[in-house]
Amino acid sequence: MEPLYAKKHSGWLNHFAGMHYGSRYLQTRWSKFLQPENFEYVPKLSKLLLGAVDEACTNKRALDLGCCVGGVTFNLAEKFDEVIGLDINKGFIELCDALKENGKAKIYSCEEGELEREMMAEIPDSIDRSRCSFILGDVHALPSDIGTFGCVVMSNVIDRLENPMKVLKSLPSLLDENGICVIGSPNNFLEDFTPKENWLGGYVNQDGQVVEATNSIKEILSDQMELIQTVEIPFVLQYRSRAFELVISEIQVWKKSPKAIK
Ligand SMILES: C[S@@+](CC[C@H](N)C(=O)[O-])C[C@H]1O[C@@H](n2cnc3c(N)ncnc32)[C@H](O)[C@@H]1O
Repeated sequence: MEPLYAKKHSGWLNHFAGMHYGSRYLQTRWSKFLQPENFEYVPKLSKLLLGAVDEACTNKRALDLGCCVGGVTFNLAEKFDEVIGLDINKGFIELCDALKENGKAKIYSCEEGELEREMMAEIPDSIDRSRCSFILGDVHALPSDIGTFGCVVMSNVIDRLENPMKVLKSLPSLLDENGICVIGSPNNFLEDFTPKENWLGGYVNQDGQVVEATNSIKEILSDQMELIQTVEIPFVLQYRSRAFELVISEIQVWKKSPKAIK
């Protein structure tokens, strides 16, 4: 195992770099206690996305909104000629750019107190990294010339947004006919990120009805798209050497088909 160093990197960068690229380290080290499948969110979501692509869609561009450190973005290059990853965090986009440039980059896990351990993130040689590009940006205000796509993914992002409904409503117009849109979310709405009046769920409304995000997402998207699959994929974030968070993301796979448009 690599030696320990004094901590230099952001906690969130370390947690997500571990989730996207550190599974072989974390799986091996903690297999006695944590099921290996909890470390396979990125490959599992990527496989689901690539499998859901409808060959009837001729648009070979993909968009990963809130791409974080880019694990899913790079995997989409297996089937898409052009893949854009967009995120609001500069440190995450810098890691994506370094991985695009060199195919590998050092990442770090938070260990004990101020100590961290070095790991290596690597993009497989089979992936054509030149197909990927990364934009520092806000999903609430996408570049006006971003164009349309055959696949749009927004994984574990909607409950981190100021106005999730506005962003969800903008998704169908980003897709070409037969394009797919995949929304993953643990629906963990918190006032730290989303003002309560913008929550998609997690409360009882003025009419006494329970409002859940799963249903709100369906109501918003079903106007122009068809729900084709719902699955659950777990992931583990490592916060410290011996402290983890288990999250179960609900993944809705939508297709923009002419018959869905009301
Ligand atoms: C919980 S992480 C999930 C990342 C990744 N998609 C995944 O599933 O592993 C949420 C991501 O959304 C990004 N994000 C939050 N608000 C955003 C915004 N307004 N515009 C773009 N990205 C945003 C964060 O920087 C972070 O990378």
